[in-house]
Amino acid sequence: MNVLLTGGLGYIGSHTAAALVAAGHTPILLDNLANADLGVHDRLAVVGGVELPFVCADVRDTDTVARTLIEHRVEAVVHFAGLKAVAESVHMPLAYFDANVGGTLSLLRAMDSAGVRQLVFSSSAAVYGTPRYLPVDEAHPTEAITPYSRTKLHIEEILADLAAAGEWRMVVLRYFNPVGAHPSGLLGERPQGTPNNLMPFVAQVAAGEHPCVEIFGDDYDTPDGTGIRDYIHVMDLAEGHLAALQRLFAAAPALETFNLGTGRGYSVREMIAAFAAASGQDIPSRVAPRRGRDVASCYADPSRAAAVLGWRAKRGLAEMCESAWRFQTRKP
Ligand code: NAD
Ligand code: WQD
Repeated sequence: MNVLLTGGLGYIGSHTAAALVAAGHTPILLDNLANADLGVHDRLAVVGGVELPFVCADVRDTDTVARTLIEHRVEAVVHFAGLKAVAESVHMPLAYFDANVGGTLSLLRAMDSAGVRQLVFSSSAAVYGTPRYLPVDEAHPTEAITPYSRTKLHIEEILADLAAAGEWRMVVLRYFNPVGAHPSGLLGERPQGTPNNLMPFVAQVAAGEHPCVEIFGDDYDTPDGTGIRDYIHVMDLAEGHLAALQRLFAAAPALETFNLGTGRGYSVREMIAAFAAASGQDIPSRVAPRRGRDVASCYADPSRAAAVLGWRAKRGLAEMCESAWRFQTRKP
């Protein structure tokens, strides 16, 4: 398969590219480098043993995207490109609607004009808002708590209307909390500035770059009082995209939605302890006030992905932490 990965140099896109190459497919990477650097392209060549086609472009440049689809005989697209910092979206809603909703509309127009109508879309567990029951299945009501999650919901609605109009085949993947890195230590998550998410911050504390982890609230209604999330190894997530692409080429409905999670939640304290064990480092922490808009617990019911895609997360917490630590210390 020739598959265009928008945002292909980003965290999840680069790991998906590695998984596609390992399975014998050809990813074509398109990225505007807003949150990635070209070194990822070089390291993907080391990991996969092949230099992948790369187009430096914005998904809102419809003509370039359409030309790329035709030139590389693309059969399907995985759309990762977009902005993802939830708190930032509250202060910059226009930038988020422009990049995420505007970017998707541009991509869809380009795909339509090139006659490529098979898409896998990166959505988020953020669309569930505050869970009304656990584990969260795909039928759980959706709710936009922030502009970021609203962009994902708008896009999901646009895709549903497109599916009803015919010709398109699409899979929406709602990711839970991706963590970890490629086993080589050459690919991983490297946020710009201070990380917003727990695990990149914990890795930097383990490396001595910050004095301690702030635990945002220890008075939640959870066993140890700290927030519980469904952390999923990024390589498991990457392989979920392979399964979704295979589904597009089977006799599938026009649009299907799947949770990609493990089905098991861990608390902030459990994550810090697991990372300390995997890295052999002391990880100091202190309790800080709750972060606005955080929910107490959120974890997936991943059974639909298992039943329909034949996909399940295989890697455990130790592997998530060990691989993230390898990437942190190797600093490629
Ligand atoms: P990332 O920032 O590492 O990757 C996104 C990539 O897209 C970056 O390389 C960036 O340079 C590129 N990009 C951004 N805007 C672009 C544009 N207009 N045109 C072309 N390229 C552009 O993020 P990620 O963690 O790999 O996330 C990928 C997707 O998955 C995003 O859509 C995100 O919303 C979604 N998602 C991420 C998480 C998470 O926790 N990482 C969870 C749920 C959903
Ligand atoms: C996890 C837990 C925090 C940092 C976000 C987005 C979601 C998705 C994944 C894109 C929570 C606690 C965190 C810290 C802490 N992204 N925490 N100290 O908020 O579950 O999900 O990323 O789609 O949409 O909202 O992930 O890693 O930020 O937080 O105590 O320094 O860690 O309160 O309980 P979150 P996270």
